[in-house]
Amino acid sequence: MSKVGLFFGPEKGSVHRVAQKVQAAIGEELVDLVSVNDASAADIEKYDKIIFGISTVGKETWDSEYSNTDWAKFFPEISQADYAGKSIAIFGLGDHITYPGHFVNAMGRLYKEIKSVSPDAAIVAPVDTEGYEFDDSEALVDDKFVGLPVDEDFEPELTDERVAAWAAEVKAAFGL
Ligand SMILES: Cc1cc2nc3c(=O)[nH]c(=O)nc-3n(C[C@H](O)[C@H](O)[C@H](O)COP(=O)(O)O)c2cc1C
Repeated sequence: MSKVGLFFGPEKGSVHRVAQKVQAAIGEELVDLVSVNDASAADIEKYDKIIFGISTVGKETWDSEYSNTDWAKFFPEISQADYAGKSIAIFGLGDHITYPGHFVNAMGRLYKEIKSVSPDAAIVAPVDTEGYEFDDSEALVDDKFVGLPVDEDFEPELTDERVAAWAAEVKAAFGL
């Protein structure tokens, strides 16, 4: 069975920790954890089942102020890959108390970029807004989050159950 490629960044923070939880929830042996640091479009192409893990670290995550982040460097690679025939799931770290008007925006930016490259890309396991408090988010499509929002800053106690429920949906969507 082909493995899942879980591309995450940055390393050693909340995204990394949650990436390990997602890997464990899906099945350690089924998921390759790949840091976006030094990964390229060719690495994305190796997988038919892909999970992207990203954090929102600014209104414009990959603008000049944040151009040195792992994801800012990886983002151009996203645009170089072809997602036709692939299944993709996204999770995003955010902070709903300090940034209620921009909650997990980076997930939405990533979703839009993938869709602009491959309009037919299957982005699976959207998440209901119920249970989340926020004012606005660029990560909403048809009133659902395009992936799983996780708030390790103010709701860490909810992370494990959120990851478990979402991982089950991802597994089903990936046919695992
Ligand atoms: C400078 C800065 C800007 C942030 N901006 C946002 C934001 O616009 N929206 C949001 O939901 N979270 C925002 N956050 C919260 C982070 O996404 C959150 O702390 C996340 O867990 C960081 O994960 P990481 O350490 O793995 O990158 C911001 C954090 C920082 C430090």
